[in-house]
Amino acid sequence: VQHEELSLPLYFGWFLLPAVQEKIRCTSMDFLKTLDTLEAFKKHLIDFTGKAEKEVDLEQYYKANGTLHCTTKFCNYGKVEGSKEYAQNPAVRSAYGSVFELSLTALFVTPRTAGARVSLTEEQLLLWPADAEKEVESAVAAAASLPQGSRAHITLGCAEGTEPVQTGVDLLQILALQKEGQQGEPLEMELGSLIYYGEGRWMLTLREPIAVPACFSSFYA
Ligand code: A2P
Repeated sequence: VQHEELSLPLYFGWFLLPAVQEKIRCTSMDFLKTLDTLEAFKKHLIDFTGKAEKEVDLEQYYKANGTLHCTTKFCNYGKVEGSKEYAQNPAVRSAYGSVFELSLTALFVTPRTAGARVSLTEEQLLLWPADAEKEVESAVAAAASLPQGSRAHITLGCAEGTEPVQTGVDLLQILALQKEGQQGEPLEMELGSLIYYGEGRWMLTLREPIAVPACFSSFYA
């Protein structure tokens, strides 16, 4: 039916409730503030600046974009393959408009993006498209055969000139490196342990996951 095709959104996802948006932005800013003062981070500043001597202010480096959310299916108003099937999936239809509790288990940054990893429950995985990991970064995801839902994240900010779709790709790359066992000494911090994965990729695995209420819905620009 043409009417249904016209009604497909830009994307489906979980949207953090207004009360927690601010809290997560603060947690993110605190993390960035701490990170760029660490000696370990300063040692690899060149990853971000391209020049050894230059300083970087991570709080200014990433630009926030809109409501914090975890995209499930990017539809681009139906132009993306599988959008219609996704929208018509009974699990998607029945969950639409309900509030879920998302678990944020890690924070990460790269010279392109800053994000929070979302660890999905079995119930939440029912809303996760089967091809989400393969779609964007086939080489990376396939090589490490990362489990379904590995790409789930909240984009916290993007460097100038970077599109938010990059955040999920950056996360998959870090997880692939993690899986290969490529990791240096973890740095124990108040929030958890921080690991450098080379080329400006840092991930802080939270000691205590952060639970955030989020409404499963869709976004039309
Ligand atoms: P993310 O989910 O990483 O934040 P845009 O503003 O570029 O149109 O993107 C709107 C939202 O859809 C963003 O949240 C973005 O990334 C996500 N997104 C954009 N393109 C894709 C894609 N090809 N696959 C998956 N998610 C996408």
